[in-house]
Amino acid sequence: TPTLLWGGRFTEAIDDLMFQFNESLSFDKVLYKADIHGSITYAKALNKLNILSDEELSEIVGGLQQVEKEWAEGKFVIDVKSDEDIHTANERRLGEIIGKAAGKLHTGRSRNEQVGVDMRLWAGEQLDQLAAILMDVLATTAAQAKEYLPVLMPGYTHLQRAQPVRFSHWLLSHATFLIGDLNRLKGVQERTSACPLGVGALAGNPFGIDREFMAKDLGFVSVHPNSLACVADRDFVVDILQWASLLMAHLSRLSEDLILFSTAEFGFVQVADAYSTGSSLMPQKKNPDSLELIRGKAGRVMGQIAHTQASGFLASLKSLPTSYNKDLQESVEPMIDCIKTVSTCLRIMQGVLATLKVHPEKMKAALTDDMLATDVADYLVRKGVPFRQTHHIAGAIVRRGEEAGVAISKLPLEDFQQISPLFEADVADVFDFEKSVERRNTYGGTSSSSVLAQIEAIQKLVQQQ
Ligand code: ARG
Repeated sequence: TPTLLWGGRFTEAIDDLMFQFNESLSFDKVLYKADIHGSITYAKALNKLNILSDEELSEIVGGLQQVEKEWAEGKFVIDVKSDEDIHTANERRLGEIIGKAAGKLHTGRSRNEQVGVDMRLWAGEQLDQLAAILMDVLATTAAQAKEYLPVLMPGYTHLQRAQPVRFSHWLLSHATFLIGDLNRLKGVQERTSACPLGVGALAGNPFGIDREFMAKDLGFVSVHPNSLACVADRDFVVDILQWASLLMAHLSRLSEDLILFSTAEFGFVQVADAYSTGSSLMPQKKNPDSLELIRGKAGRVMGQIAHTQASGFLASLKSLPTSYNKDLQESVEPMIDCIKTVSTCLRIMQGVLATLKVHPEKMKAALTDDMLATDVADYLVRKGVPFRQTHHIAGAIVRRGEEAGVAISKLPLEDFQQISPLFEADVADVFDFEKSVERRNTYGGTSSSSVLAQIEAIQKLVQQQ
């Protein structure tokens, strides 16, 4: 019978399938570093209480460092019969390396606080990295927006040509959503960074352990304020998954636009070979798989929140009785998978954007004069006609153009004047896409000065980091 950490009161061995059902090492081993750092800090705090002598402390720290090295080098040998989770595996190995002193490390400590420490430390580090990658994506959008500032394209609503906009403005519209994600991330990071160490299994620590010291030593922002709540608390995982779901929705919408714009029918952009794949049958094919995968992975990340919320976790969280219950272990896998998926998607998106080929002539060719119908209406507004009326008049001009089968810019001035005597020869000036775009020069508009201001704001944000 395997000797399990908690086996003292047991007379029968655990059922094999039950052991497999219960184990979490197969997925929580990625937390090994956090687990070891948490233990080193806890050992230091025990030393401050003279529960560990200086000698025992240095034995424990040295031993834990060796365990960390074994994991890092892929040399850690898992005992499949007794290593239930990362905490038991590390403690078992520490005992083998340093002997008796290892048995003092867990004094007053519970795996219930350990798993919280491990998850929060690991997630905190990952979220910092995600913030940095998100910054890279934003920096890339700003650089591309600057490079292609002169390029005009049709702006769409309902996927119908609406008004001319700058390509850069379209790109920055997506960046704007990502800035929102970056801002929301700060709150998630702060809430994740509450230190559980010292809460015990549920009731607190009986040896007067210095919780402030441990939180500081591990770089946490705060100390978790209630031991019962702390061991029950996976709200930070729900936070991360919710945050990630919205971020992925944003990446997915950008992907969708780019996939559409890279079709032959649009031809506005081309995804670089490095982020495309071909067809095994059709030699001419080049497919934007990178973007399709991001769009697909958005579903996966939202599925994790469905897993944790609808079908599983949040649903069972709502009915979990006080403090720790093993159901909480079900939050580890979606957290790890979600963060890994988001990280890869952001890196791929950064690459796609940095290498994107832009075809200004195709965008220009897609601009049609009817997209300036609002500007025709605005022309009369500037002559004092109420907009509701000018809208009607411009509509009549569009209809006249359609009937005559010509672009509205090609209609003779007499046609304009028949519809409204206020039209003069200078109406011809309206039919200039560049001028139309440049008139929209208020904050957040599509004129070059407005777009440049957005670019500068992103550059400033990136530099602050
Ligand atoms: N692997 C466990 C988890 O992820 C660690 C905590 C185990 N605690 C316990 N009382 N069995 O939640």
